[in-house]
Amino acid sequence: MTDTGSLLTGTREDIIRRTRRTRETATLRRMVRETRLSVDNLLYPMFVVEGEGVKDEISSMPGQYQLSVDALVAECAEVVALKIPGVILFGIPDHKDDAATEAYSDSGVVQEAVRALKSAYPDLCVITDVCLCEYMDHGHCGIVEGDRILNDPTLELLERTAVSHAAAGADMIAPSDMMDGRVGAIRRALDQAGFAQTPVMAYSAKFASSFYGPFRVAAESAPSFGDRNSYQMDPANAREAMREVDFDLEEGADIVMVKPALSYLDLIARVRDRVDVPVAAYNVSGEFAMVVAASRNGWIDPERAFMEVLTSIRRAGADLIFTYFARDAARRLSGDSATPLSWL
Ligand code: PBG
Repeated sequence: MTDTGSLLTGTREDIIRRTRRTRETATLRRMVRETRLSVDNLLYPMFVVEGEGVKDEISSMPGQYQLSVDALVAECAEVVALKIPGVILFGIPDHKDDAATEAYSDSGVVQEAVRALKSAYPDLCVITDVCLCEYMDHGHCGIVEGDRILNDPTLELLERTAVSHAAAGADMIAPSDMMDGRVGAIRRALDQAGFAQTPVMAYSAKFASSFYGPFRVAAESAPSFGDRNSYQMDPANAREAMREVDFDLEEGADIVMVKPALSYLDLIARVRDRVDVPVAAYNVSGEFAMVVAASRNGWIDPERAFMEVLTSIRRAGADLIFTYFARDAARRLSGDSATPLSWL
């Protein structure tokens, strides 16, 4: 039987679907590109220590530093110049105890850092990570009794920490401890203390991941016994992640986060479809370290690899990406292809 419907020779079924047509030139590819990464999507994590003039490279995270407050302010001049909208601060106190006292001390490292950054760069969005592990002598994210991590008694310490960050001038509070009910507790505490306008970004779906390894060296926060499996999520669970997101929104979260990013791109996409608030993803230390290590071994092309990672997280649906690649990505996005990558 002959095909009378086609102007081409052969049957309709023979026509090749030529998706390559729009891949032919760089201009065409630019025109049909679906996902765009912008500097506006990037947030840069930074580590603050006590002291003065401290800038110590973190052994597990090349190109990333533990910084004293003065050095942090100096480093942020570049962050601001690169138009990165915000940073998230992690504090590493000299003194750790079993009540995380330094987490909510008015003169704690993070509180001092927030005040210094806000006075130097009023427009920089200074986000604070609210968690107790860096401040506890046992390295767990909550109060410990025997070998258990207590939930409800921990909430009060988290509330105090969040309020002290807001009082220092933090623009956003990001609880990462994974205690039940902490978003609601922090929201109420902020409101009562007069910080009704301070948004909460919840680490909603935070998994008990091997990819935090390099961070725990950086933040000196590895648990001294056991693991975080009784509070952080099981990497096998997706539906439970949706429940975590729902609960955090009910409790008043303004932005929800999935963490880590790369092994959880499916969940970023599901959360993006499910909610209308902004979605953040944390491209964590182990994901950074994999790209750095493979690049240093000559196994992957660093320039392509790190931008591919960030683009994939955007494509999955994240509006905001916490990433140690933020400065390098901001440079490349602004057309600077000459400055060497900071981690090679
Ligand atoms: C604190 C916290 C961790 C990270 C962010 N906040 C470590 C952990 O949960 O052990 C990890 C960030 C990274 O790996 O880059 N609880």
